[in-house]
Order: sequence, then C-alpha cells, then structure tokens
Amino acid sequence: MKIGVYPGSFDPFTVGHLDVLKNAAPLFDKLYVAVLYNVSKSASFSVADRVTMIENVIRAEGLDNVVSGTFDGLLVEYARSIGARYIIRGLRATSDFEYEFQIDAINRHLNDGIQTVYFMANPAHSFLSSSNVKEIGSYGGDLHGLVPEYNLNFIRERLARQ
Ligand code: PNS
Repeated sequence: MKIGVYPGSFDPFTVGHLDVLKNAAPLFDKLYVAVLYNVSKSASFSVADRVTMIENVIRAEGLDNVVSGTFDGLLVEYARSIGARYIIRGLRATSDFEYEFQIDAINRHLNDGIQTVYFMANPAHSFLSSSNVKEIGSYGGDLHGLVPEYNLNFIRERLARQ
C-alpha cells in the first residue's frame, strides 16, 4: 500500500494547498494531510479548527483516499508511525526552495527511507500564503478565490473573533 503524508501548518488551508492535494492524492492509496501541532509556533487557528477545515475539504472534494491527521515532534517519525514513505510539499517560488532544500537534507539524514515529492504551485497561486489570507481576512478583505468556498465563512468568523 502506497502511503503519503502532506504535512503543514495549514493556518488556514488555502486553495494553493488544495491544488497540491488534488494533484498528489491520485498517486497514493492513502494520503494523510497532517497538521503540525506545535505549541511554540503561534497559530491563528486551533489545531481542531484546522482539522475541521481539512475534513471539509476531503468531504467536499470527494477525496476518498485522503485522511486528516495531527502530529507533534519530528515529521519523519510521524511518517514512519503511519507507514508513509513519501512526504508531499508544494513549491511556489525559489524562496520556498531554499527552505525545502534544508528540510529535505535533514529529513533524509534522519530517515533516508522516506522521500519528499514536490509539486509546483499553480502560477495563479504563486503569491498566495496562509499569512496573506490571515492578513486580508483580519482587515475584512475579500477571501474569495484564496480559500475553498465552503471554508470561507468559517475562516471569516474565526478571524473576526481575534
Ligand atoms: O506549512 P509549513 O509551516 O511550511 O510546514 C512545515 C513543516 C510542518 C513541514 C515542518 O515545520 C516540519 O516538518 N516540522 C516538524 C518538525 C521536523 O520534523 N523538523 C525536521 C526538520 S528540522
């Protein structure tokens, strides 16, 4: 069984993440979308809220082989625990490459049995980040086309509370 993990902060999950997920899902029997639970990294959305948004995505997009998950600690350890031999990451620009290059080297050092597979972002989303979404949302800006439509109200509501 070919198992992959698509890890991230997903704070919140954007249409850029969705694009990567839809391209990666057909390559696996089972693909985990795993939210990093990290108390030292400040997030705007709780882990439970981020998982809820991911589960909305899985349901709405009919991604039957995709499941949500959470992890704390080393990604390669989580991957090993769920039997995943592939990590999925998206790349938007050369600035992402520098960071991903380092993380890849570290992950390989920790476990060379796990490969990372990269998906280039749709050029239409190369500007998009979760941070942009939070900033626009916090000023009441239009989030249409930046996050999945079915998560729009949830995101607006959560950001308005902050
Ligand atoms: O969406 P993000 O924030 O770019 O995702 C980063 C993530 C979660 C993939 C990365 O921070 C990670 O793997 N964290 C877990 C800790 C880990 O395994 N670190 C190894 C390299 S130092």
